[in-house]
Amino acid sequence: MTNLQDQLHRPLRDLRISVTDRCNFRCRYCMPAEIFGPDYAFLPSDKILNFDEIERLVKIFVTLGVKKVRITGGEPLLRRDLPELIARIHRIEGVEDIALTTNGSLLKKYAQPLAQAGLSRVSVSLDSLDDERFFEMNGHRGKVLTVLEGIEKAAEAGLQVKINMVVQKGKNDQDIVTMAQFFKEKHHILRFIEYMDVGNSNGWRLDDVVSKKDIIDHIHQFSPLQPVAPNYKGEVATRYQYQDAQGEIGVISSVTDSFCSNCSRARLSAEGSLYTCLFATAGTDLRELLRSGQDDAAIIKCIMNVWETRNDRYSDERNEQTIAKRKNSKIEMSHIGG
Ligand code: GTP
Ligand code: 5AD
Ligand code: SF4
Ligand code: SF4
Repeated sequence: MTNLQDQLHRPLRDLRISVTDRCNFRCRYCMPAEIFGPDYAFLPSDKILNFDEIERLVKIFVTLGVKKVRITGGEPLLRRDLPELIARIHRIEGVEDIALTTNGSLLKKYAQPLAQAGLSRVSVSLDSLDDERFFEMNGHRGKVLTVLEGIEKAAEAGLQVKINMVVQKGKNDQDIVTMAQFFKEKHHILRFIEYMDVGNSNGWRLDDVVSKKDIIDHIHQFSPLQPVAPNYKGEVATRYQYQDAQGEIGVISSVTDSFCSNCSRARLSAEGSLYTCLFATAGTDLRELLRSGQDDAAIIKCIMNVWETRNDRYSDERNEQTIAKRKNSKIEMSHIGG
């Protein structure tokens, strides 16, 4: 195996594969219905990597250091025969962990076959336990109960379950403690995600972000918390344990406390482009290499070149700018006031 490193000495360890650009939800912070409407041009099926192509790429990525594979979307369970893809990836030597990020709407149906195919873990997105607020956030598509049933089926099937809640000020921040208490009792790990400026369509404003500090302070008042060390280097979530009971929560704070210095994640889009950052504006087309009959060596060379020239640290940079802005505005205020 090669000891591949990027410009900031970060290895390549995780591969996040999007298997479809479609979703049956229209979360306002991700795929607002005004933009992703009936006329939106989603990818036609011949432009999407097929299972043979994905399997071949995973085998190649493993030789470059990848150990963890995460299947994402859109909503990955909309991709037909997904358990078959999981089974194929599970058979690849060197893949130590396969996880899935899903909105949970179809999990009740697929949890068992996914677990049987070799999936280890699911992250289920759920932003509120209140149907009205959940509806408001997901574009009136999914019911809380359906997602909760999916979560239970996943746990019964033996999958490790984490719940992801994106927190948006004025939208669902009143649900932070309710969600924490509910999943504490259910013994599932809940992770709060700071609302991010991902994509171009969600109209992100810093004022809409609830910070890691505020989330933790808030829960701590109801149920005291203590910090816990990361499970592994580069873990995205900061972990906290309840002091009075078993169980933990996590906060993914890419806005107020970013974590680029340990980022070992590569992303493969549904149409087969390789991105080295969640916020990247351009990718590298691997589909063309696959479909023009290039051998593995040529594809490996291309990926190595992309990784070795990588210097992405978008969230860290945005964070530095935000701090600088705050500092500037402080100076200005004290100047005027003083
Ligand atoms: P584990 O393997 O369980 O640690 O999962 P994970 O946190 O890597 O994966 P998951 O898909 O559950 O991530 C949860 C959320 O964290 C994502 O939906 C994103 O919002 C955010 N996230 C994940 N990876 C990155 C990243 O590389 N950069 C940034 N800025 N955010 C990320
Ligand atoms: N900010 C934070 N998290 C987001 N997700 C999607 N868009 C955003 C955003 N703007 C998260 C979802 C889900 C995963 C697919 O990505 O909540 O957990
Ligand atoms: Fe985006 Fe996930 Fe919501 Fe679908 S369910 S719109 S992929 S955040
Ligand atoms: Fe990695 Fe980019 Fe996220 Fe930073 S912003 S952690 S470099 S994906």
